[in-house]
This record gives sequence, structure tokens and C-alpha cells, in this order.
Amino acid sequence: MEEWEEYFAQNPAPRGHIQNCAQMEAFCQRHVGHHPIALVTSGGTTVPLERNTVRFVDNFSAGTRGAASTEYFLGQDYAVIFIHRDKSVTPFLRHLNPRFLLEAMHEGPGGILQLSPAHSSQVHPVWREYQQIKSEGRLLWLTFTSLSDYLWLLRSATQCLQRLAPKALLYLAAAVSDFYIPQDEISEHKIQSESGPLTVQLQLVPKMLRPLVSVWGPELYVVSFKLETDEKKLIEKATAALRKYKHDLVIGNLLQTRREEVTLVTERESSLLRLTEHQKAEHIEIEKLIVEEVCSRHRNFIKY
Ligand code: PMT
Repeated sequence: MEEWEEYFAQNPAPRGHIQNCAQMEAFCQRHVGHHPIALVTSGGTTVPLERNTVRFVDNFSAGTRGAASTEYFLGQDYAVIFIHRDKSVTPFLRHLNPRFLLEAMHEGPGGILQLSPAHSSQVHPVWREYQQIKSEGRLLWLTFTSLSDYLWLLRSATQCLQRLAPKALLYLAAAVSDFYIPQDEISEHKIQSESGPLTVQLQLVPKMLRPLVSVWGPELYVVSFKLETDEKKLIEKATAALRKYKHDLVIGNLLQTRREEVTLVTERESSLLRLTEHQKAEHIEIEKLIVEEVCSRHRNFIKY
């Protein structure tokens, strides 16, 4: 058995997985022949330290990249399966902070809550766009929390989209843990402090990009992200990932500058996408540029 098969054999499917798969199937059926489909993964996975989880290892990702990119894929006429970490940043809602909404509402005639006209102009465009996408049924939201929830969803979504190849792409912006505690080593209950300092040994998670590209979705257009903090390592690591997994595009980003620039690395070349001062002043987001470029490359991929 391959390492990744062992992982799935040892980590049971999360609750609600069958329903999630049914939703993905129905979504793909609805859009096949009408819209290309993008699977966007977003946010960070948790690694539980206990089976009845009180504590877990997390990572920094807020899900901004995935949420913003989803809006731009919708703008490019894609249908989107948005697989995101529960309570991370989401499309449309990211423009409305909850406190702003409370401030923006007042009681109208008959005690009915209304948006005050001064605030309405900010909410209206977001609401209109959301309602449009909703009426077309072009956005499917599915959530994960732990690494295992994420990997089960990722595999099923990829297998589902493979049937639509080449008109489907994967855009893997989630920050996925490389380490975990296997089921037979994880504590059943809350770890107690009486026994002194805690030493935890995390095992390596099999790299799922390998079966994703070679087994689950061999004809899909696959874009992965690579995050580094050391500029000198970025291109080297992105190129190595591409050679190893043989997918289509790696988007390299540095933690410090990820909101302003990214590098697109393919087998043949690498190119920098950077917001100009003018674009920054106009509040243009780097995800707009990334998604336009990815869609253009995906269109070429579909042609050949
Ligand atoms: O969410 P934000 O705050 O906006 O931040 C966005 C981001 C910085 C998280 C995003 O742009 C990004 O870079 N995401 C990828 C983070 C990363 O470097 O992941 P990685 O090196 O752990 O994995 C690289 C690739 O391997 C990923 O496509 C991942 O899906 C895949 N992987 C990872 C672990 C694993 N066990 N199997 C995998 O296949």
C-alpha cells in the first residue's frame, strides 16, 4: 500500500462526508457544459493533539487569498467549489465586517431592521453580486477544520472534477500541515498537565500532491502555491515541487510580500506578478492579477 493510501485507511472520513460528496456531484452535473469549474482551497488545516480535541496545532493562514481569488474566478465566469477552513475569510462577506453591519442598521417602521441610506451604498454592490452568483448557483461552500477533513474533501473533489477535465482546474491555496499525529498515537482524552512538560512527536504527512496529480485528477489543470520566508529558497523550492509532482503551475509567494507580489513558475519559465504603485493606490488586489493569468493559461490548456 502507498503511504497516502495508508493515511486514508487509518484516518476515517469525517462526519457529513457522503453529503459533501453528493453536493459536489450535483454541482458538477449542473455546470458541466456551461461553465468551467475551479476548485479553490483556502485557509489552514489544524492538527489535533487529542481525539476529543481540546488542543491542536494550527497555522497562520487567514484564507484571504482563497476568498479573494474565488470572487475573481466567479468574475471570469467559472463555477467555484470553495473548500475553506471553517470561520476563515469568505468571499463577499470579507467586505463587510460584522461590527459595520450592526452600526449600519436601524429600526424602521413596524420595528423592521433596515440599512441606513448612508451605509447602503457600501453594502449594496456586494449584496447584488452575491445574489447574482447565488441565483446562478455558481458557488458551492464546503468547510474543513482538521488536516484529515481537508484531505478527504480534496481527494473526493479532485476525483469528481476529473470527469470534467480539461475544463476544471485546482487552485490549491490552503496551507496544509506537513506534520500530524497518527491515529494509533493520539491521546483519546485531554492531555493532563500533572505528568509534567509535554513532548509531542509529529510524523510526516504524505505529500498528497503526488497521488492528486498522478491518480485522482491526471487530466486536470493543477495550480499549487508555495510559501517560503527566505527569498533565496522560493524559486528553487517551487521548481523542485513542479519537477517532483509534474503539475502545471506553482505560484511562489513570500510571507512578507504575499499581498503585493508572487512568482509564477512553470516547467519552462518563471514570471513575476507585482502590483504597481498605481494599482495599489486603486486598491487592486494581487489575486485579481493571479486569477486573470491562471484563467488565461487554463484556456490555452483546454485548447491543446
Ligand atoms: O490565507 P492567506 O493568509 O491569504 O495566505 C495565503 C497563503 C500564503 C497560505 C497561500 O498563498 C499559500 O502559499 N498556500 C500554500 C502554503 C504552502 O506553502 O503550503 P506547503 O508548502 O505546505 O504545500 C505546498 C503544496 O503542497 C500545497 O499546494 C499543498 O496543498 C500541498 N501539500 C501540502 C502538504 C501535504 N501533506 N500534501 C500536499 O500535497
